Amino acid sequence: MVCNLLKDKKGIIFGALNEKSIAWKVAEKAYEQGAEFVLSNAPVALRFGDIDRLAAKCNAEVIAADATNENDLEKVFKGAVDKFGGKIDFVLHSIGMSPNVRKSIPYDKINYDYYHKTLDISAMSFHKILQVARHMDAIKDWGSVVALTYVAAQRTLYGYNDMADAKALLESIARSFGYIYGRDKKIRINTISQSPTMTTAGSGVKGFGSLVDFTERMSPLGNATAEECADYCITLFSDLTRKVTMQNLFHDGGFSSMGMSAEAMHQYDKSFRPCD
Ligand SMILES: NC(=O)c1ccc[n+]([C@@H]2O[C@H](COP(=O)([O-])OP(=O)(O)OC[C@H]3O[C@@H](n4cnc5c(N)ncnc54)[C@H](O)[C@@H]3O)[C@@H](O)[C@H]2O)c1
Repeated sequence: MVCNLLKDKKGIIFGALNEKSIAWKVAEKAYEQGAEFVLSNAPVALRFGDIDRLAAKCNAEVIAADATNENDLEKVFKGAVDKFGGKIDFVLHSIGMSPNVRKSIPYDKINYDYYHKTLDISAMSFHKILQVARHMDAIKDWGSVVALTYVAAQRTLYGYNDMADAKALLESIARSFGYIYGRDKKIRINTISQSPTMTTAGSGVKGFGSLVDFTERMSPLGNATAEECADYCITLFSDLTRKVTMQNLFHDGGFSSMGMSAEAMHQYDKSFRPCD
């Protein structure tokens, strides 16, 4: 469905690695809705991922940046502002990585150098993006910034490890910076808390398949897909949500408000019929 919700809007999308990436779906939908944007990812991801294919499809420029490096981020914002001849309207932060998760190191035996990296890549990078953008005055008044998060920031989910801490920090940054950027420039900052989704980052989490099955059983509307998450991002970049800011917005089919569902109970008691 094309209704040009993002006509004349310019942006930066961080984190499209391959077709499964949530940021990839956001780029496709943003393009469909009339936006122009720059794509960015870490240099290593540009070498191994498929971003050039996405760029060709969306007529977008790719600018490499390690999101933990402020100089790199300045280059991305400068590149976007130069390309579009002025300030931009929206930014997507779709970045996450934990070396502890990657190496299957449990939370009570965590490697602290890796922990620093997890927090820097998955949360502090959001602060850096916002601080660089503000310093360069690169986002238009009434612009919109969105980062992707997960319910493990509020509730413990086995296997999510130090990424839970990173997501708690990420959500807090959205509130703290949301006040400052909102007060001074009317720029809104929100996080979307997405269902578990089979992507490269997602499938690195221990027991991820079981988690997807559990949340599917627990959510009255079922898990939200990456495409549905992209649709939600588009509404937040559009002018239809101008007074939404500093929120953590659950996009999870209702999972975060559930305690137990009939479908999940059926797993423990097979005589229990889910429709009772
Ligand atoms: N997949 C899920 O289940 C799920 C659920 C909720 C939230 N999220 C969040 O959605 C976001 C996108 O993840 P995804 O699931 O699409 O997986 P993905 O693996 O496709 O995306 C993660 C991206 O982070 C990028 N990245 C890693 N280190 C970086 C660095 N130093 N600099 C710049 N970019 C870097 C990767 O290259 C990759 O493109 C992440 O924040 C993730 O935590 C994912």
